[in-house]
Formats: sequence, C-alpha cells, structure tokens
Amino acid sequence: MKQTILVTGGTGFIGSHTTVELQNAGYKVVIVDNLSNSDAKVVDGIEKITGVRPAFEQVDCCDFAAMDRVFSKYPDISGIIHFAASKAVGESVEKPLLYYRNNIVSLVNLLELMPKHDVKGIIFSSSCTVYGQPAPDNLPVTEDAPIKPAESPYGNTKQINEEIIRDDIHSGAPIKAILLRYFNPIGSHPTAIIGELPNGVPMNLIPYVTQTAMGIREQLKVFGNDYNTPDGTCIRDYIYVVDLAKAHVKAMERVLDTDSEALEVFNIGTGHGCSTKEIVETFEKVTGVKLNWTFAPRREGDIEKVWADPEKANKVLGWKAETSLEDTLMSAWRWQQKLREEGIQ
Ligand code: WQD
Repeated sequence: MKQTILVTGGTGFIGSHTTVELQNAGYKVVIVDNLSNSDAKVVDGIEKITGVRPAFEQVDCCDFAAMDRVFSKYPDISGIIHFAASKAVGESVEKPLLYYRNNIVSLVNLLELMPKHDVKGIIFSSSCTVYGQPAPDNLPVTEDAPIKPAESPYGNTKQINEEIIRDDIHSGAPIKAILLRYFNPIGSHPTAIIGELPNGVPMNLIPYVTQTAMGIREQLKVFGNDYNTPDGTCIRDYIYVVDLAKAHVKAMERVLDTDSEALEVFNIGTGHGCSTKEIVETFEKVTGVKLNWTFAPRREGDIEKVWADPEKANKVLGWKAETSLEDTLMSAWRWQQKLREEGIQ
C-alpha cells in the first residue's frame, strides 16, 4: 500500500497539480494550507479530477503546535512535500521580515516534527533562482554550478532553507531530503479544473499573457530587448506544471527508498531555453489570438538567461519533461477561458 504524503501549500499552483499526480500514483494525500494565497475550492477540483478527495487541514506551517496536531491526527504520514511559502520576488523586497519568518520558520517546524512523528523523507521546493545569472560557460546549468548571492529576500530564503536542510541532515537527523530546483513552471491541468490563479496583477509572464489575450490587461510589456540573446529578450526554461508535478512523485519514491543518499539535489527543467519573444509568438500561433504587446525597459532584478541541464533528474529520477511548449501554452489559454466562462476572471 502506498504511504500517506503531507503536501504543504497543496491548494497552490504547483501543490495542487502535485497532489493530483500523487493520487494518480496511489498515494494518500493530506494537504495543509493556510489559504493566504489560494482557495479551499481547489480541494474540490482535485477530487473532481482524480475521484479521490485529499484530506485538508487549514493550518499555518509556522504554527508548531497546530502542525504537531496534524502529524498526530495522520500517523501514517511518511513523507512531506513542502511548497508552502511566500513567493513574490518584488513583495519580498518590500517585506523581507515577513518572507524570512514565513519561509524559514515553516521549514524549521517541519524538520523538528519529522523525527518525533517518524516521518522519513522531505522534498523541498527550491528554485533556479539560487544560481542567479550562471556564467555563459555554465549554461545549461547543472546542480554543481555555483550558488550566487541572492538578488531578493525571496531567493535568499530558498538558499537559506537549502542550507538548513543540509545542516540538519549533517547533524545526524534521521531523515532524507531531496531539493528540487524548479525553473519556470507554467500552464494548467489539461482538464482546466485547476490552474494558476495569481492574486491581483500577475507578476509572472504567462498569466500576464493569457490575461492580456482575454482583454483583462490592456497590453503586455516585454521587459527589455537589448539583452545579449539572439532576439534581445530574456531566456528562461519554461516547464509544464504537470511535468513538474510528476517529478515530485519520482522524487518521493526515491526519498522513501532506503538506498538513496540522505540529501540529493535536482534541476527540474526541460533543458531548452526559450525567449520572452518566442513565448509571445508561440502563444499567438497556437491560440490564433493576436496579443497587444510592446517592448519596455528591462525589469530590475531580471537575469538575462538561464535554462537547466536536467540530465541528472533524467537519469537518477527516471523523469523527463515530456510536454511541448505549444501544448503547455494551450493549457494556460484553456484555463484562462475557463476562468472567464465561470465568471472568475
Ligand atoms: C519570466 C520572463 C521577464 C512578465 C520568477 C521567480 C522564480 C519563480 C518563477 C517562484 C522574464 C519576462 C515577465 C511581464 C515580461 N518563482 N516578463 N513581462 O522572473 O523568470 O522567475 O518566477 O518560484 O523564482 O524569480 O519569471 O514569469 O516573472 O518572468 O517581459 O509582464 O518574462 O522579464 O524575462 P522569472 P517571470
């Protein structure tokens, strides 16, 4: 019988898609989320997709006593996937202490509770942001690329949390961990029942593209066309959120496998770089929708180009991104159309 997995932040964008794939793989799931940046209706959506309703506890991971009670209530939890965190780069610059408290205390609580409740493994949601701007000869970026000083408190919490996990395991904690460094997760579930639902004006590219296409936003601004890239716009590794979710299932299988190392790190990306301009042009091609967009000055803090070398995840996890950019962008557009049909956006 597959074990029970605790998914913190499980009503969020990546957490909800990962819960679906965990259930598809036969795991039972307990979602913990404080709903500060998501909606409990996502639990209904997950049930609609898989036919199985995950357990849901509205709890803040920073509340040690409440989290202790969750582990006592579900004694068969054997692994954790920790998504719950504040994740807006710009907001973290304005409110650093909120980010340090929320993102670090929540992780420390989980690490302290794991041995007490005999929880064996944790998957930590990290980010390619730890690499900053890799040197040109370090692209595509591998897991042993240098970690650069963080460009934002958000990025710093990812680096600090990686170190906290490393130090905890080095101290002899009876746990194992896998750090997954995501690149740019995009798209929505093929059923369009769950997807990305940013609060307010989207910071990330794809929701801004789909909201512009829907007429919610007047015009998309492409930040910078004077970068040292083929078309002058930034390059990123855009990965379909369902492929990313499946990487978590593979990582959970490995971290619960007694033979794997105590701490492992994997880049989770497609291995292909794609420019902002290519995203816009591909979106217009697959959807047939003409986007109102223009070039604008560079956005402060943006790095020029980064994409993954996913070979280690391909070989060790037996995982590979499978979905084309075209299908991924189409899923994002179908989700935006669904939000309009349901009067949500
Ligand atoms: C992508 C590209 C922009 C909006 C951030 C975090 C990262 C992760 C993903 C959480 C950039 C350009 C964007 C727009 C634009 N977050 N862009 N016009 O900045 O690569 O990564 O989100 O884990 O940690 O740093 O993603 O989607 O904001 O931007 O031209 O209106 O699109 O300049 O080149 P980013 P993004």
